[in-house]
Amino acid sequence: MILCHSAKELAELVSQAKEQGKSIGFVPTMGALHEGHLSLVKEAQKSNQFVVVSIFVNPLQFGEKTDFDSYPRTLGVDARLLTDAGVDVLFAPNVHEVFPADLSLTEPEPGRIGERFEGEYRPGHFAGMLKVVSRLFDLVQPDSAYFGEKDAQQLALVRQMVSEQIAAGRRDPMKVVGCKTIRDDYGLAFSSRNTRLRESETDIARSLSRALIAGSKAGKKREQILAAAKAELASEARLDYLELVDPQSFEIVEQLPAGGGLLIIAAWVGDVRLIDNLLIGG
Ligand code: PAJ
Repeated sequence: MILCHSAKELAELVSQAKEQGKSIGFVPTMGALHEGHLSLVKEAQKSNQFVVVSIFVNPLQFGEKTDFDSYPRTLGVDARLLTDAGVDVLFAPNVHEVFPADLSLTEPEPGRIGERFEGEYRPGHFAGMLKVVSRLFDLVQPDSAYFGEKDAQQLALVRQMVSEQIAAGRRDPMKVVGCKTIRDDYGLAFSSRNTRLRESETDIARSLSRALIAGSKAGKKREQILAAAKAELASEARLDYLELVDPQSFEIVEQLPAGGGLLIIAAWVGDVRLIDNLLIGG
């Protein structure tokens, strides 16, 4: 694996691979890698001959500076994991490489989906996320990019942005591939933030996925689904939201739609904010 910090070197490596007829799979991350990230790498390797992973803790998508500062940074361990996984290039740029002072970008708009739920609780988060993802796509020029369904709104917004950019002739065709959420043996979705949970908080964190499963078994009505989910959630978890939404539009639905509804949750466990979701009745 080549560890590369510069955008120029990255562009050279990618264009060499393309000249050799290889397709480029890209997995953007913020590091502190876990099995969820590694499952995206595996998916990328199934359909591409050249896989690039980026690690960049994007300051634009953090609300509070303390959250940005306390985000885990483990580049050495991450590089080892990606080498073992057979990744071709790890792109780990600094902020000046990603956003040089003289860069002028058309800023992607999160739109209506981006105003709801995560967008409401984390103002500016999605605009900052789309800005960096668009910039990373410009630098990597992938054929396919891989995102986790765990961050369902993020995935929907990236899909929307890419299709708008392709339609406007501002981006070469590329695929955005959604990958299933990877969980531990107790159902807790892997997240870089889990490392900040105290031992005593682990079971509270696990109650998020227990709540989603209880909701999935509670019939077809929103009211029943939310009540069953809430009953399973540990009382110490502080809810930001728990909702049943349409998986495409993220509008609240009163009944499970024909193709299934997405049960979404965000809650604080101690000072760690966790999100999760489950497609139910699909
Ligand atoms: P990060 O939180 O590091 O996640 C990188 C990718 O891993 C995202 O697509 C996320 O959905 C996926 N992922 C995280 N946990 C997962 C799990 N348990 N199972 C499956 N996939 C999982 O998301 C970001 O970084 C950033 O917003 C980024 C897209 C890199 C832009 O800065």
